[in-house]
Amino acid sequence: MRNSTLIEPARPPAWPLMNNNITREDLDALIGFLQQDNPILTQSAQVLAFEREWSTWLGVQHSVFVNSGSSANLLTMAALWHLNGPGEVIVPTLTWVSDIASVLHCGFTPVFVDIDPRTLAWISTRSSRNCPPHARRVLDAHSGIQRIESVSAR
Ligand SMILES: Cc1ncc(COP(=O)(O)O)c(C=O)c1O
Repeated sequence: MRNSTLIEPARPPAWPLMNNNITREDLDALIGFLQQDNPILTQSAQVLAFEREWSTWLGVQHSVFVNSGSSANLLTMAALWHLNGPGEVIVPTLTWVSDIASVLHCGFTPVFVDIDPRTLAWISTRSSRNCPPHARRVLDAHSGIQRIESVSAR
């Protein structure tokens, strides 16, 4: 096999999606957990402890730990449907496919709004001129942050 030269990008991307934030302490905790006799790798005591700690940190009564952002979207949309019934959900034009798929899957109608070409997000859903005045549900997904607001107070 011939030696091949990897072509490196000229410079790092301007906006990295994320940095690796898994610490040595995290890795050691995981190794310790896996070294138990019968570690349970699905929902168990660690998940419950995390949900409780997370709820306290957020100042809410309950939290549900899920395996992915897509699952979080799906559960959130399902909960909104049960709470408020069918309708429209305002979504940005630049976002993850599961942000839209979850809306469709739960029987809502996605309504796309423009994004700010500088930030790639809408600045504020409540004040945005893009947000239709009759909007009751907004899936406000930024490139690295997700907020889902129910603006039914309008
Ligand atoms: C708003 C939003 N939707 C969907 C996703 C997709 O998540 P996953 O790849 O974990 O399913 C992400 C991931 O960061 C996200 O931030």
